[in-house]
Amino acid sequence: MPKPNVFVTRRLPEPSLTRLLEAVEAEVWPEELPPDRETLLAKTVERDGLLCLLTDQIDAEVIDAAGPQLKVISNCAVGVDNVDLAAATQRGIPVGNTPGILTETTADFAFALLMSAARRVVEGDRYVRAGKWQTWGLTTLLGEDIHGATLGIIGYGRIGQAMARRAAGFEMRVLVFDPNFNGVDDEVLKTDLTALLSESDFISLHTPLNKDTHHLIGASELAQMKPSAILINTARGPVVDPDALYTALKEGQIARAALDVTEPEPVPADHPLLTLDNLIIAPHIASASQATRGKMAAMAVDNLLAGLAGEQLPNCVNPQVYSG
Ligand code: GLV
Repeated sequence: MPKPNVFVTRRLPEPSLTRLLEAVEAEVWPEELPPDRETLLAKTVERDGLLCLLTDQIDAEVIDAAGPQLKVISNCAVGVDNVDLAAATQRGIPVGNTPGILTETTADFAFALLMSAARRVVEGDRYVRAGKWQTWGLTTLLGEDIHGATLGIIGYGRIGQAMARRAAGFEMRVLVFDPNFNGVDDEVLKTDLTALLSESDFISLHTPLNKDTHHLIGASELAQMKPSAILINTARGPVVDPDALYTALKEGQIARAALDVTEPEPVPADHPLLTLDNLIIAPHIASASQATRGKMAAMAVDNLLAGLAGEQLPNCVNPQVYSG
């Protein structure tokens, strides 16, 4: 029996790549940049499976380009906003993701951004390299205290909760806004968005991107924050309106921001946000530790192979395909 035929939109770290190549007939896109739309459509034709990254837009047209034998879409990310889940589900195709294993790594990075923005680490580095460090200055690069401050967490899923655990070590007061969180957590205070925005010293975003969270943080939300507030986004770029953020940072409505994700992504080098000193931007690397990226690739391969074998994916975001 011929091996299943799959398209893999980027090279995976080892040993996952070898494991995949031994199990299936795979074409692996060799470039660092994603295949463009036309190439993605062409490469997807007549595949049994697709292993993709969050940079690949997998919509109905791509799914239909694969053909009716397509058995599985495995996204090597926890977020699946790049995949049209309704279209996949309608066609009975399970979609896999990589939850859990990147939680702590992503929260580590969100907290690193919080600390870097609070204590102006990146500005300090630029200051030294620019030859501006003349003496120990009593008022040089003053930042905000982290210990004892109030952290507002928007989105209290796995990563939001991991962020709260880190905050506990800094004796922070933690406010949480998440209409979907029904659990009990005595360490945090569940609140509404208005109270969180106005009371928090730090606001960290941990929601998925969907129609309810698109531009959740816009001009009106930024206007409700303290002038000393620091916004952290490690969720998805479009959760924040970038024009409103630019204005708020430029006009000192809030003190600083640190983003791992942007809209658009990547952010163009001439984007107005990049002219601001009170903003840190990282290139979407919150889950980028050696260990975690290896585990994500392994989980994406597990999902792919299970789907090709007609088994339930270990991590499936549309399990309703199994009940039809
Ligand atoms: C990264 O952003 C992911 O969704 O895994």
